[in-house]
Amino acid sequence: MTTPLNVVFRGASTGPWAITAATTVVGEGLPAATHLAVSEGWDAPTSTDAAWSLRGVVSYDRYLRTDEKASLGAVQEGLGRPSSTLAAFIPIRKKAEWWALPHQERRAILEESSRHIRIGLEYLPAVARRLHHSRELGEPFDFLTWFEFGPADVAAFDELVGRLRASEEWAYVDREVDLRLSATPTA
Ligand code: HEM
Repeated sequence: MTTPLNVVFRGASTGPWAITAATTVVGEGLPAATHLAVSEGWDAPTSTDAAWSLRGVVSYDRYLRTDEKASLGAVQEGLGRPSSTLAAFIPIRKKAEWWALPHQERRAILEESSRHIRIGLEYLPAVARRLHHSRELGEPFDFLTWFEFGPADVAAFDELVGRLRASEEWAYVDREVDLRLSATPTA
């Protein structure tokens, strides 16, 4: 994969993913849409009826240590598995207090206190993930998070999200929307 990879998520009335649930966890929600389309590259054709459109970049890791990268690499699986008929799209914004912290303090909250990476590892390879950074683009969210999994792993994914939301890191989240998706049959 070439980095950075530009990605656009669009909520509309048609698309390869049907939105099965939309929950505003904190802060302002998103306008209603029934479907979601994910396009790589900002030149991808735009749908004219998009209710909303969010851009992100797959970029370098900010906090991951070499040993953690190796642990993830040993178990994680990529997007697009045929068994991943379900997905979650969770855009997230963090408070100004978070961004005012020095890098090593943010790392300490994310991992040493909140165990984000260690908790996440427990749910691999069932859940495939991709993190998109949006803050530098001046977008309404700082991160666009994307997860794919199969029907047997819905409960595990809900548990994962619950554990992360209970962590110190999430005290810094001031906008979060949780969209659940189901792959629409291909023609
Ligand atoms: C599936 C298991 C998961 C794993 C293995 C995982 C792993 C990671 C890792 C390694 C990073 C740091 C990347 C870096 O160094 O910059 C990260 C960041 C992030 N993850 Fe997760 N994660 C998982 C699940 C989740 C879930 C379910 C959510 C949302 C509900 C989430 C939201 C985020 C966000 C917003 C960031 C960016 C944090 C920041 O830079 O301040 N992750 N994740």
